[in-house]
Amino acid sequence: MESTSRFDLDTEVSFLNHGSYGAVPRVVGDVRLKFQLEMETNPDMWFRTTVKERWLRQLELLDEFIHSPFRNSLAFVRNVTEAVSSVLSGQYAWKYIVHLSIAYGAVKLAIMAERDRRNALECKVVPEVISINLNDILLGNCDSSSVLERISGTLERLSGELSTDNHGLFIMDHISSVPAVLFDVQKITRVARKFGFQILIDGAHCIGHIALDLKAIE
Ligand SMILES: Cc1ncc(COP(=O)(O)O)c(C=O)c1O
Repeated sequence: MESTSRFDLDTEVSFLNHGSYGAVPRVVGDVRLKFQLEMETNPDMWFRTTVKERWLRQLELLDEFIHSPFRNSLAFVRNVTEAVSSVLSGQYAWKYIVHLSIAYGAVKLAIMAERDRRNALECKVVPEVISINLNDILLGNCDSSSVLERISGTLERLSGELSTDNHGLFIMDHISSVPAVLFDVQKITRVARKFGFQILIDGAHCIGHIALDLKAIE
């Protein structure tokens, strides 16, 4: 089946920006309507019991869909920005927050906000940027092994200053925003772990676009 026929998108228009707004496949929209009707039919039952059951079932299905290595540890958030901010504001002692220059704007803002918050609390964290040019990757002027080398070099340099109670956080995109480049998160996370970094993968655009096997990402 043509993928466009799964959506209600106007066939006279060529949509190029599926990242910012997206569109809901018809089959998903139908289930959403079914749930809405279920809620309207018996709101009392819905809010007391049904919604919780449905919520937990969706998490279970998602667990299977992405092959999560951490059973029962998924949570729904409203968007990627909220997810990233939630992780950053967690109680982790980080000396460095390392990210790629191509990190999404809202993610960079969240890193800066967290730097200021931690500095005010006197648990200083230093952001470090690794410069990556997406056009160079797309044009073939920079391949995945040079990206890996650049990341590895920075993390190795910083790792000497980490200790068991003072870690580093490395943040990367699985698929970048504009232009879209798919990164080899499996190899990159292996390197980050080797140098003692915790890893936050910005997975915007991944679910539904690429097959995910989180168990394969260490
Ligand atoms: C790579 C990347 N990260 C984060 C975001 C932000 O996603 P959200 O709007 O769901 O917070 C986007 C949005 O397009 C993105 O492309």
